[in-house]
Amino acid sequence: MSNTMSCTEVEQYVKSKVKPKRYLHSVSVAETAIYLNSKFNTNLDQDDCYKCGLLHDIARNWQAGDLLLYTKNNQIPLEKEEVHHPLLLHAPVGASLVKELGFEEYETAIRWHTLGNKDMGKLGLIIYLADYLEPRRTFLTDSQRVAYNKMESLEIICLNVLKQMKHHFKDNALSFATSTKGLYDYLKEGGTF
Ligand SMILES: [Fe+2]
Ligand SMILES: [Fe+2]
Repeated sequence: MSNTMSCTEVEQYVKSKVKPKRYLHSVSVAETAIYLNSKFNTNLDQDDCYKCGLLHDIARNWQAGDLLLYTKNNQIPLEKEEVHHPLLLHAPVGASLVKELGFEEYETAIRWHTLGNKDMGKLGLIIYLADYLEPRRTFLTDSQRVAYNKMESLEIICLNVLKQMKHHFKDNALSFATSTKGLYDYLKEGGTF
C-alpha cells in the first residue's frame, strides 16, 4: 500500500517526530534535493525528492539504545561500522519506519543516506548529496560551494564530496566504511546512477 500523504502532511508528520533544528535541516535537504533533481534533469518526481528529503532523518533523535533494540527486534541487517557507531543506525531504522508508513520507494535512499552505497539508486544519490550540501551545513566554505555548484553531474559532485571526506579522514586517522569505499571505487571507475 503506497502512501498518499501530501508534502504539507509529510512536513507536519516530520515536525512532530524531530527537534526544531532537525526539522529545519530536513526541509533544507528536501529543498536541495528538488534543486539537484531539476538542475541535472534526473527525471525523478519533485514531490518524491521533497518528501524523501523531509523523511530522511526521521529517526535521528532516537537514543542509541532504542535504535539498537529496533534493529534487533526487526532483524535489520547492519554494516559493521553501524554496530560500532549506533548513531548511524538512524539510517536503517528511518528506512524501516518510512517503509512501514507506506513509502517503500524511499526505503533504499534513506537506508544509505549516512554511509552512501553504489546501489542506493538515483534518489539515494540525490538525498546523500543534499544531506551534505544543504545550505545550513557549516562545514563547507563558500568557495567549496561555488565549486560544487559548477560540477557537471551528480556523480562528479559525489566523487568530489568523497575525496573531500577522504582528505578529512586522513587528517583524523579515520577511514571509509565498507559501503562508502564501495561507492568511491564505483565512481572512480566511471560508474553512473
Ligand atoms: Fe542522517
Ligand atoms: Fe540529515
